[in-house]
Amino acid sequence: MNTFVWSPEYSVGVQLVDEQHQHFFSIANTLVAISREDDPDRESLLNLFGELGDYALYHLSTEESFFRGFEYEDAAEHVAAHDAYREMIASRFTNEMQKPDADMKKLAEEMAVYSGTWLQDHILGMDKKFTAFFNVHGFK
Ligand SMILES: [Fe+2]
Repeated sequence: MNTFVWSPEYSVGVQLVDEQHQHFFSIANTLVAISREDDPDRESLLNLFGELGDYALYHLSTEESFFRGFEYEDAAEHVAAHDAYREMIASRFTNEMQKPDADMKKLAEEMAVYSGTWLQDHILGMDKKFTAFFNVHGFK
């Protein structure tokens, strides 16, 4: 069963952003599932961990490029929230995963749950504020 389920309440009214959010949840779900297996394949675990981190960064920079293009008025506050997430991922997960004695299974599960939960809260609390602004600029 999926841990993170996108539903219309998460729609920000911009198709590209909604699709990216759905893909973000999907990678997080796959990583949660594999990290909860009894003896997960180490390479698959590491690959998915990397994929989730890379996709998260890619997604946040997509939003930010729209903010710059439209001169979005709430960009500073929004980018600060992205920065806090990026900092958490780097310090709490990516760096820890590189240590020789890292508990990969545990770190991978925590990273997936943290990221999916963060995205749920971030969509509802912050992304939804840009809907009207994006729509006015022709993005729906
Ligand atoms: Fe955002």
